[in-house]
Amino acid sequence: MKSSSRWHYSRADLATSYLQQLEAGLNSIAIFAERRKGKTEFLLDDLNPVARDKGLRTVYINFWERKSDPVYCITQGVKRSLEEHSPSLFKRWKKEFSVKLGAIQAKASIDPTTHPELSTEALDMLVKSKDAVLIMFDEIQHLATNPEFEDLVSSLRTFLDTNKKKVRAIFTGSSQDRLNKLFRRQKAAFYRSASLVDFPDMGEDFIAFLIGNFEELTGRKLSVQKAFDIFQDYNNSPFVIVDLLYTMMREGLYDFDKGLSYYIEKNNPSEEWRDLWDSLKLIDQVVLRELILESRPLYHSDTYKFVGDILGIGKVTRGAIQTSIKRLREKGILNNEGHGQWAFESKEFRAYAEASNNT
Ligand SMILES: Nc1ncnc2c1ncn2[C@@H]1O[C@H](COP(=O)(O)OP(=O)(O)O)[C@@H](O)[C@H]1O
Ligand SMILES: [Mg+2]
Repeated sequence: MKSSSRWHYSRADLATSYLQQLEAGLNSIAIFAERRKGKTEFLLDDLNPVARDKGLRTVYINFWERKSDPVYCITQGVKRSLEEHSPSLFKRWKKEFSVKLGAIQAKASIDPTTHPELSTEALDMLVKSKDAVLIMFDEIQHLATNPEFEDLVSSLRTFLDTNKKKVRAIFTGSSQDRLNKLFRRQKAAFYRSASLVDFPDMGEDFIAFLIGNFEELTGRKLSVQKAFDIFQDYNNSPFVIVDLLYTMMREGLYDFDKGLSYYIEKNNPSEEWRDLWDSLKLIDQVVLRELILESRPLYHSDTYKFVGDILGIGKVTRGAIQTSIKRLREKGILNNEGHGQWAFESKEFRAYAEASNNT
């Protein structure tokens, strides 16, 4: 966990507004935003301090900390929170829980199918004091990636329901489709357990703050407008613009044209999209391009012929297209919008696919 840096632009107002919504009766809220939109930094550097100032005990759990083992992610999050904020409970944790956990963890990872109760036992430690608790679950959609995590999801739901007087939760997700799977499907354990709220993009005030920072550190003034254009070109992701400014500072480049071309040459922001694109089967690439072009219905004989021609097999079947869509969905690339509509999870990847002609 990195501490708040001088490059951190405070979003305390947004944190306060979420906490007000939680106090006003929504026990849990879920926010969705694409990767690198600033969710994690927001939880750790904005929501966490504001919640603590209000007297809440806070816990941060990230399901990407160890993707194979969500129970571990939970116990680690709880442990960190107790260690940091409540010495007496942490003592108790060490006495009652650590030994047991150690014994199980010694057998490599905790099997989420056989030990979901460990996560609730750990979470129970948090509600032993009278303080209200805010649990931040980062990358919650990960729990929708494996049917083996279902028991864990149910026990989390039960924990939240039984402790609703004391416990508030905020979930973040970077896949709309998986988030829907967890919260919107009637059969899902989290069904309607959280209200989806908007996580707004940052705006020009954020960019002006960064440029001011750059000037203080280097004595050089850069154009806010130019920086804002770059920010928008890269999907309003704070990651690229902050990383670019760091790089320019480090390399002594005080001009955006030079800075950006140097940055792109060194670490092309679309490189990870290229890797993803290259990892796809040809049929999946063709299907994605068909979805972008929208020149004809996906399930239509002209499409079967067109796709078949590219693959060099004359014609594909309806089933082949269905399987391709299913694969793209499982990979987290496509999101089911209902009524046979498919959307890209990532606007950036959509733009990459649109620009790439090498299918
Ligand atoms: N409030 C902020 N102020 C300054 N930079 C930020 C802010 N939020 C995010 N960033 C930059 O964007 C990067 C990615 O943010 P992160 O929180 O990891 O995104 P996400 O969790 O949505 O994938 C951070 O490492 C940081 O450089
Ligand atoms: Mg994150």
